[in-house]
Amino acid sequence: MVFVFATTIIIIDKQENGENDFMLTRVAKVNPIQPERTLIAEAAEVIVKGGLVAFPTETVYGLGANAFNDDAVRKIFAVKNRPPDNPLIVHISDLEMIHRVALDVPEKAWKLIEKAWPGPLTVILKKRREVPKAVTGGLDTVAVRLPGHPVAIELIETAGTPIAAPSANLSGRPSPITAEHVIKDLWGKIDMIIDGGETFFGVESTVVNVLHDPPVLLRPGPVGVEEIEAIIGEKIVVPEWARGYAEQTVPESPGMKYRHYSPVTPIILVEAYPGNREGMIRKIKEIAREEKKKKRKIVVITSSENNRLYEEEGIRTVVIGSSKNLYEVARNLYRVLREIDELEVDIAISESFDEKGIGLAIMNRLRKASTLILKV
Ligand code: TXA
Ligand code: MG
Repeated sequence: MVFVFATTIIIIDKQENGENDFMLTRVAKVNPIQPERTLIAEAAEVIVKGGLVAFPTETVYGLGANAFNDDAVRKIFAVKNRPPDNPLIVHISDLEMIHRVALDVPEKAWKLIEKAWPGPLTVILKKRREVPKAVTGGLDTVAVRLPGHPVAIELIETAGTPIAAPSANLSGRPSPITAEHVIKDLWGKIDMIIDGGETFFGVESTVVNVLHDPPVLLRPGPVGVEEIEAIIGEKIVVPEWARGYAEQTVPESPGMKYRHYSPVTPIILVEAYPGNREGMIRKIKEIAREEKKKKRKIVVITSSENNRLYEEEGIRTVVIGSSKNLYEVARNLYRVLREIDELEVDIAISESFDEKGIGLAIMNRLRKASTLILKV
């Protein structure tokens, strides 16, 4: 099939996706701050009728379905090609809604929720029986978040139902931070895409299990470990696998056992022990020289501060942001991971970043996207 989409011609193979072979995905541009009511109403109707809508949140784009509609939720897994034991986050639009999906919200969860919502934090709670098993991958817990993006909030509110939504990418691919990324992965497979421009943080929400004592970090995100600890007044557990290292064997956070955020191009991540910036740069240059000798094309993913040091040796680079502004690095991360595939290089070598605050989320994603991690 050939479709003319704006100025680009998209050729799409007919693909199997559950009952629906192929659909014309409607793409609607909205004002991200004051979304047009008619467009939100249209998208909400799709959700109510059991369809799938991709929408912006302040972290990444989500692929939403009515959280109480088992069939609709199953379609999410089918179109993303997501393993069924990797549960979804349920998104709500006000605090009252939490009681429609969760039971016995503990005191510590309330403390976090009051400070961090609406915002990029997901808490694991005991699930209500009404939440379909498909949403939680058979677990008796449910992940809940109240997003801080006007489009997301108004969509949930207008649909009048909590919305189950993973990131709107094909399973294993970097999460989408623009509608174009969603179009690339899911166009022709879902009902509608709400284009609200680029997302704000660029990495997925922090996920924390507050049912454990002390609470356990399941996925680092924009809300830092330090912030969580300051809010609840105690240290939380940060397992090695939550930092992006070893694969987890116990399915505490099922999503962690799958390879993630991966471009096709292999990535070597050079990790500098705190302060060893010189060692990191030296190692990257050394690998670059060796690869060049083997006639392999390489690119270095670098901070803006170090860019010149590679360029003056004729090494190709992609700048990911300033190491002094980790929010900038986080925002550019998934775009860079998608872009390096288009550069047609044999290998990418990435610098590492400070693990403070959102830095832990950056390092977690880089480690999980890498084929090799070298420590210097
Ligand atoms: O920022 C975000 O969180 C985005 C936007 C769309 O809200 N969503 C997102 O969803 O990143 P997803 O499906 O890509 O990641 C959900 C993560 C997975 O690692 C999953 O294993 C974990 O949350 N999760 C969901 N339910 C869980 C549960 N009951 N227990 C433990 N982990 C859970
Ligand atoms: Mg995801």
